[in-house]
Amino acid sequence: MRSVDDVRAWRKGLPTGKKLGFVPTMGALHAGHLSLIELARQRSDITIASIFVNPLQFGPSEDLNRYPRPIEKDTALLQAAGADALFLPEVADLYPAGASTFVIEESVSLPLCGAVRPGHFRGVATIVLKLFNIVQPDVAVFGQKDAQQCAVVERMVRDLNMSIDIVRAPIVREGDGLALSSRNVYLTSEERSAAPTVYASLQMAKAAFESGERRADALKAVGQAVLSAKPGFTVIYWEVCNASSLSMMRTVGPDGALFVVAACIGSVRLIDNIGVN
Ligand code: PAJ
Repeated sequence: MRSVDDVRAWRKGLPTGKKLGFVPTMGALHAGHLSLIELARQRSDITIASIFVNPLQFGPSEDLNRYPRPIEKDTALLQAAGADALFLPEVADLYPAGASTFVIEESVSLPLCGAVRPGHFRGVATIVLKLFNIVQPDVAVFGQKDAQQCAVVERMVRDLNMSIDIVRAPIVREGDGLALSSRNVYLTSEERSAAPTVYASLQMAKAAFESGERRADALKAVGQAVLSAKPGFTVIYWEVCNASSLSMMRTVGPDGALFVVAACIGSVRLIDNIGVN
């Protein structure tokens, strides 16, 4: 379905009492996205995905224009994964000229990626709200890979009294630990072989936690050292934070913590995270 009206008509025609599950994506689908479809199918009766490369969440120097758009392949993957419907909107339909209303979450969106990508979560929250308004799902599935995005969406749904269950899906990884991402296709073969170091840095810090280290500075130092030891990486952030508020921690308490990392290798930005408890 390409148009907003088509999705609304389709939605109206669904049998009452059936749960609608929704998986919003920007396409260039991989096994991580497909695991979200699988989870949506488990949590609902009918599943719809969307593919929309949302210009509002890209910064001026980011990869909007080169973002991969393999639409035919994506459509086939969604069909094979058992999605019942696909919404493929056009930019002009979602952002009419002069659109001037946006969603700004003012707490969990501020640190980490929010601090280094100004306007990013305003773009995410705005498009997710718009897609929710069009699709009207009962359940929506987001990946823990983008933990801060999950937190922003959960906060928006709570604060704006939206009646949608947000489900977090676990991170799907390559065999060597690299979290699947549509942006991994940008990696040269050398960068690709170095990229699992991002996950290794989380695992090493987790090992330090499991041996009893609770000081955030010490845990950060372990993670950062793993990345610094590997040439080619620039660490954007490596933090120990509260899993739901994303506020930084000085000491990990009984509720555990989320270790979050963003690092550049060449021109490619990789993010990852791991929970400890
Ligand atoms: P996109 O990057 O295409 O991701 C779509 C969904 O797939 C997100 O919920 C993301 O967290 C999840 N995902 C990506 N890689 C994953 C992995 N390795 N394991 C598990 N889940 C993974 O995130 C977006 O699009 C956009 O910001 C969007 C929410 C669609 C709004 O434009």
